[in-house]
Parts: sequence; C-alpha cells; structure tokens
Amino acid sequence: MSTHIAFVLGTRPEIIKLAPVIRACVDGDVPFTVVHTGQHYSEKLDEVFFTDLHLPEPDYNLAVGSGTHGEQTGRMLIDIEQILLDEDPDIVLVQGDTNSALAGGIAAMKLDAKLGHVEAGLRSFDREMPEELNRILVDHGADLLFPPTEDSAARLREEGIPPERVTITGNTIVDAVLQNRDIAAEHSDALEDLDLSAGEFVLLTAHRPGNVDDPDRFAKLLEGVNRYAELANTTVVYPIHPRSAEKLEAFDLTVPERIRCVEPLNFLDFLHLEDTASLVFTDSGGVQEETCILGTPCVTLRENTERPETLDVGSNVLAGPEPESIVVNAFEMQTKSTDWELPFGDGNAAARILAQCGVESVVPTEARS
Ligand code: UD1
Ligand code: UDP
Repeated sequence: MSTHIAFVLGTRPEIIKLAPVIRACVDGDVPFTVVHTGQHYSEKLDEVFFTDLHLPEPDYNLAVGSGTHGEQTGRMLIDIEQILLDEDPDIVLVQGDTNSALAGGIAAMKLDAKLGHVEAGLRSFDREMPEELNRILVDHGADLLFPPTEDSAARLREEGIPPERVTITGNTIVDAVLQNRDIAAEHSDALEDLDLSAGEFVLLTAHRPGNVDDPDRFAKLLEGVNRYAELANTTVVYPIHPRSAEKLEAFDLTVPERIRCVEPLNFLDFLHLEDTASLVFTDSGGVQEETCILGTPCVTLRENTERPETLDVGSNVLAGPEPESIVVNAFEMQTKSTDWELPFGDGNAAARILAQCGVESVVPTEARS
C-alpha cells in the first residue's frame, strides 16, 4: 500500500509552495487528501492559485476565515483533528510558518500519523513575529523535517533536533518557479495590462503586521520607496494584500504618487512581473526567495530575515523602514551584478520530500539510474 499523505494548508504561500508536492502526488498516483483551513478565502489569495498551478479542489475546506491568532488556530485545530482521525493518513505535511501550519502541526503531532514540516529550520530570531513562534513549535513537534538549505539544517541541529529526522531538500519554491517561469513569460499579459515595459518598473509587496499595522512605519516605508522611484524616474507597482489595503484605509494614509496600487495578482502574472522588474521591494518571505532565483535584485523592508542565504549570495539587502536607507540600498542593489549563486536547491525538492515520506513512485533526480 502506498503512503497516504494529508496536506494541511490555508494561505497563498502555502498553496504555492505545496503545489509541486501535490502535483507530484497526482502524477505519481500517490493517495492524498488536501485540507484547506480557509485562512485565506478571497479569490485572489486562494482560488486563483489552484487554477494557475493546476491543483485539484481541496477535499475539505474548513472556512475558518480571519480572527485573532488563538481563535483562528483553535477553530482549525478542532476540525483538522477530526478529519485526520477519519482519513487516517500515514503522514501529514504542513509548510512554513502560518497559523494553518501550526494548527495542522499540533493536530498531527498527537495522532498516529507522522508530521512532516516542509521549509523547516527558518529563523528570523524575532519573536515579535507570530511566524517565528509557529516555525519553532512545528519544527519541534515534527517527525520529518525538510529544511531547504544547509544553514536551516544547522539551526535545527543547534536546537537539539535529532539529525535522523532532518533531510535537506532544497525549497519547493524553486520547483514552482522553474515549472512556471516560461509559462508565465508566454501567457502572462501583466505587462500589457498594467502598461509597463520590462526593466522599467519596480515591484513592491508589503503585508507584514510589523510594517503595515503601524501607521508611522507604513507611511515611512511608502515614502522611502516613492522617493527612490522619483530619483530613479520609475514607476512602482504594488499588488496590495488585503491586510495592507485595510490598514491604509483605517489609518487614512495617502499612497504617494509614484506608487500604483493594484489588486493582488495571480501567480503567473506576479512571477512575470518579478522576472521583468528592475528591482523588487518587499517584506515577504517567498518574494525574497523568488527574486534570488529569478536574478532580480531585492530590497527587504525589514531589519531581519529568515532567509539569510539571500544576503550571503548578494541578491537581497535589509533596508528596514527608514526612507534614506531604502533609497541608498535600492541604488546600491540596482548597480550590482545579478549572477549570484542559487542557494535554494535545484527544483527537485518535492521529489526528495516524497522519497523521505516513503513514496516510491516519485524518484528524485539523484536516485534515478
Ligand atoms: C498570513 C500569515 C503570514 C503570511 C501571509 C501570506 C499567519 C500568522 N500569518 O498573514 O505568515 O505571510 O498570510 O499572505 O498565519 N484577509 C482578506 N482575505 C483573505 C485573507 C485575509 O481580506 O483571504 C484580510 C482579513 O481582514 C484579515 C487580514 O487580511 O484580518 C489578515 O489575514 P490573516 O490570515 O490573519 O493574516 P495575513 O496577514 O494574511
Ligand atoms: N504572490 C502572488 N501575487 C501577489 C503577491 C505575491 O502570487 O500579488 C506570491 C509570490 O509569488 C510568492 C507568494 O505569493 O510566491 C508570497 O506570499 P506572501 O508574500 O503573501 O507570503 P510570505 O511569503 O511572506 O509568507
């Protein structure tokens, strides 16, 4: 009997980063169940990714929606536990550091199924971030840990996690980018739709509570990006996350002139804009990785990152929220050569993860004879 895998996911980045693993299960005839918590539910944060990435409809959608951390996680946990008891999977896979990953993790760690953590071992060392607590808790409850890099595996060892639980797999975002980059270039109309020319615009994403839940910090950050755009005589496109859109309205902030807010984009359009932008400003984890893979310089609007590999290879810099620092760092990144090393693996992460889960029908490249 083949291993039965249950995926628990709930937000945009989890759908994108688990897509290569789910697709490999479809292609390899591996039995699986997808449990969607409903943490993200707006069409543009959820459904569009199932379409773009050719994913089957989730078997369950818990429709938990938004709420405080405890409320959201608690509601998920009750339903996930019951589903896992009914479905009786061999392995439960969660990805990353969201409340959905935490709920899936807590439910699985006390049941018979083994818990696997995709993208294990990331640390920002900033416990103010809810994600940092989620990552630590899931890593320490997991039976199988899949850190993307040697750095993240080393952190798990330092925290005392037994090495036999840990396999470096690369990050599944490399699989997702390599599988979709050319498709995006061929099929995306994002440049035409937004009246942009390749290489002549910059892209911005900002949604972390630490940035957008504080009106002064959010305003400063927008001012810094706008000032750079004025000096560089370029346009900024900002596909705005609903959290940030709500905060702009609540704080009555005016977005400066050079920044064009647009609705969140589907994966192929966003990937193509990342690929063709001259520079990307972000506070997103996934975007720091994707820009590194695509060869687009990145300026991170935070003081720390759980992706230090991007700093080491030189694809990314930490600018924080101060306008002057944003401008200086952006000009510096703009002039750098973009032939950095790729630290996140070779695009075979999904196959390696499934091999560790005991799946025999999906074979990683290095194991093929
Ligand atoms: C969550 C994750 C974060 C991840 C991000 C990806 C946690 C603690 N945070 O943050 O790690 O980087 O997803 O995008 O798990 N909203 C909508 N539509 C939706 C979802 C949310 O309008 O489909 C609005 C709601 O007003 C909600 C707010 O966005 O209150 C925040 O949503 P929430 O899921 O709590 O956190 P994110 O900021 O999305
Ligand atoms: N993304 C997207 N459309 C957008 C903005 C982001 O498809 O308008 C994708 C992006 O390519 C990346 C992921 O969403 O794969 C990042 O998600 P997010 O920034 O919400 O979460 P984080 O990575 O910070 O947890």
